[in-house]
Amino acid sequence: MMLEAADVKKQFGGHTVLDGIGLKVEKGDVTAILGPSGSGKTTFLRCLNFLERADSGTLIFDGETFDLHTARKVEIARVRKKTAFVFQNYNLFLNKTVLQNVTLGLTAGAGMKKDAAEQIAVKALERVGMADKLKSYPVQLSGGQQQRVAIARALAMEPEIIYFDEPTSALDPELIGEVLAVMRQLAEDGMTMLVVTHEMDFARNVSNQVLFMDGGKVIESGPSRAFFADPQQERSREFIRALREARE
Ligand SMILES: Nc1ncnc2c1ncn2[C@@H]1O[C@H](COP(=O)(O)OP(=O)(O)O)[C@@H](O)[C@H]1O
Ligand SMILES: [Mg+2]
Repeated sequence: MMLEAADVKKQFGGHTVLDGIGLKVEKGDVTAILGPSGSGKTTFLRCLNFLERADSGTLIFDGETFDLHTARKVEIARVRKKTAFVFQNYNLFLNKTVLQNVTLGLTAGAGMKKDAAEQIAVKALERVGMADKLKSYPVQLSGGQQQRVAIARALAMEPEIIYFDEPTSALDPELIGEVLAVMRQLAEDGMTMLVVTHEMDFARNVSNQVLFMDGGKVIESGPSRAFFADPQQERSREFIRALREARE
C-alpha cells in the first residue's frame, strides 16, 4: 500500500465535516472521490496534505505513519515532498510566465539551479502540450491551458501522488476535454492520482476505484466499474442518477 488514511475526523465550529474517513491507495491507482457539494471532499484532500489540520486520524505514506493531528513540521515536509496539488482555480502566479510558474517550486522550493529547473519544467510542459507557451502569462491562456500548466507544475516536482480538487469545475465545457485528456494520459503512464471530480466518464473509465462520500462519511467505495454498474447503496444510486441527469 502506498498510502493509507484511517479514521480522519474534522470539525469546523462544532460542525462535523469528516466523520472518520479512510482510504487505501496502491501505486498507480486513480481514485475518484465523489460526493455532493459540502460532503467534505476538499477538506479530506487538504487534511491528507496538512493544508488543513485534522482533529484526529492517521496517514501511512510509503510505510511511514503520520498522526494527522500532531505531525511536526519536518514530517509534514516529508509528506509534501512526495505529493502535489492541483486546484480548481489553477492558482498560478499571474505576474509570472508559464515557465516561471513551473520552475518556481524547483528553484525557490527545492533549491535547484535555474538551468536544471528549466529543463525539468520544459519536459513537464511538453507532457501537457504547453511547451509552446513558455513565455506566455496566465491571462493570455484559456482556463484549460492554465490548468494544464498547473498540472505541469505538479509534475515538475516529481511527486509520488497528485491530488486534484475538481480540476475541471471552473472550466467552460469546451475546455474540459483537453484537461481530462492530459489526466487520462498521466493515468496511462502510471501516475498515482486522487481526483475529486463530478466528471462521470472520467470516474467510470479512467479511475480504477471510487470513494463516494456524503455527510463526512464514506458511503460506498470499491472498483469504479462496479460502483457505476451496480451501486450497493441507495444514496450512491441517487448520486449517479443526478450525475447522469446533469450531463444530459
Ligand atoms: N475553513 C472552513 N471553515 C468552516 N467551515 C468550513 C471550512 N472549510 C469547509 N467548511 C465546511 O465544511 C463542509 C465541507 O466542505 P468541503 O470539504 O469544502 O466539501 P466539498 O469539497 O465536498 O464540497 C461544508 O459544510 C463547508 O461549509
Ligand atoms: Mg470541494
